[in-house]
Amino acid sequence: MSRLEGKIALVTGASSGIGRAIALELARSGAAAVVVADLSDGPREGGRSTTALIAESSDAEALFVHCDVSDSAQVTAAVGAAESLGGLDVLVNNAGIVGPGSRLTEIDDDAIDAVLRVNICGTLYGCRAAARVMTPRGSGSIVNVSSVVALGGSSRTSVYAASKGAVAAASYALSAELGPRGIRVNAVHPGMIQTAMTTQDQQLAAGTVGETLSVRVPLRRTGTPDDVAKAVAFLAGDDSGYVTGTSAVVDGGWSRAL
Ligand SMILES: NC(=O)c1ccc[n+]([C@@H]2O[C@H](COP(=O)([O-])OP(=O)(O)OC[C@H]3O[C@@H](n4cnc5c(N)ncnc54)[C@H](O)[C@@H]3O)[C@@H](O)[C@H]2O)c1
Repeated sequence: MSRLEGKIALVTGASSGIGRAIALELARSGAAAVVVADLSDGPREGGRSTTALIAESSDAEALFVHCDVSDSAQVTAAVGAAESLGGLDVLVNNAGIVGPGSRLTEIDDDAIDAVLRVNICGTLYGCRAAARVMTPRGSGSIVNVSSVVALGGSSRTSVYAASKGAVAAASYALSAELGPRGIRVNAVHPGMIQTAMTTQDQQLAAGTVGETLSVRVPLRRTGTPDDVAKAVAFLAGDDSGYVTGTSAVVDGGWSRAL
């Protein structure tokens, strides 16, 4: 029996990329229902929506909820949608934006605010809304998507790195705060994963980063959304029942080889 059997999960930013892979992995691992919360139901890569793919590949109920995670009311409504299906067991705060790949001296206030609002506030709003409904039930699992940039320096990523460092730090603090209520909180640090986010990267598109990267990654390849999804599914489900306040680095060893 799967360790996600019967659980109701909510994944933010699940219309494409890593979030989509997580939603599908949770569904295939036995979740009873998966709420796909995103700005749009249409995947940026084109093709079928995440809810359609869940219906094709599993028995899980799939529900799309329009949600901008930088708006706390919309996040609360998305958690409410999961509750209406029977109660939220798993929240994955995955939605995120990378912002401008520029030096800090060239980034204006609005661009900084946008990244912090989505990546930090969005994660905190999600954790807060989930904790409020999980607390009376005395159980729950939250997984927050950080990044390897939170673990080591990289030029032109200061705002994004700050936001992802905050995501990890909040996860550790919340594990202490919510553990006594039966709620686990963990994080994942993906490395360079092939999604719309990375293919939009100018240097990656030009091939310069991609070529160097495969040499610098000990496992000699960039990651796939499924690589991250499998780690998230472990942290989300009961197989990791005594794991909280930690993070999984899913980067092919990249951060150890810098
Ligand atoms: N791709 C990588 O290499 C990589 C590495 C480390 C961490 N991450 C993190 O993984 C997560 C997913 O990244 P991805 O590569 O799949 O990106 P992506 O751009 O392919 O997908 C992000 C999804 O989030 C949604 N989204 C964006 N802003 C939102 C908002 N305000 N509210 C709700 N949904 C919103 C988008 O619509 C999209 O569906 C992000 O948090 C990202 O920072 C990605």
